[in-house]
Amino acid sequence: MAELREAASAAMRRAYAPYSGFRVGAALLGTDGVIYTGCNVENSSFPAGICAERNALVAAVNAGRLEFAHLVIVAGSDSPVPPCGLCRQALVEFAPELPITSVGARGMTETWSLAELLPAPFTGDSLRRG
Ligand code: THU
Repeated sequence: MAELREAASAAMRRAYAPYSGFRVGAALLGTDGVIYTGCNVENSSFPAGICAERNALVAAVNAGRLEFAHLVIVAGSDSPVPPCGLCRQALVEFAPELPITSVGARGMTETWSLAELLPAPFTGDSLRRG
């Protein structure tokens, strides 16, 4: 957990967030024990920006890792932030029960299961239902 938190903090320091000023870092632990990180990267065309969590996820998948054990998020707000709805949907594709820990600026920590945050996900099964 300490290593994941440090990795997420380091990623947060790399955030590109000139529009919101809200910096986020994420560290995703693969079942191989490797940590994949991401930060939020904003854009002058706002919808082109990407969250820290999905950045970490795409980095992991691009490295060939599809199974995950834990996600740690660090953000600049006092209270711990849960991942946004888009990121929940992106993550559920790979790890429906993923434990997610979020750490606020003053160290306050909260942990959820992704199943708790996204109780009725749209999945590949949803596509195949007749
Ligand atoms: N953001 C994240 O990176 N992760 C979240 O879970 C919520 C929001 C980013 C997106 C945007 O760059 C900034 O925070 C403000 O919404």
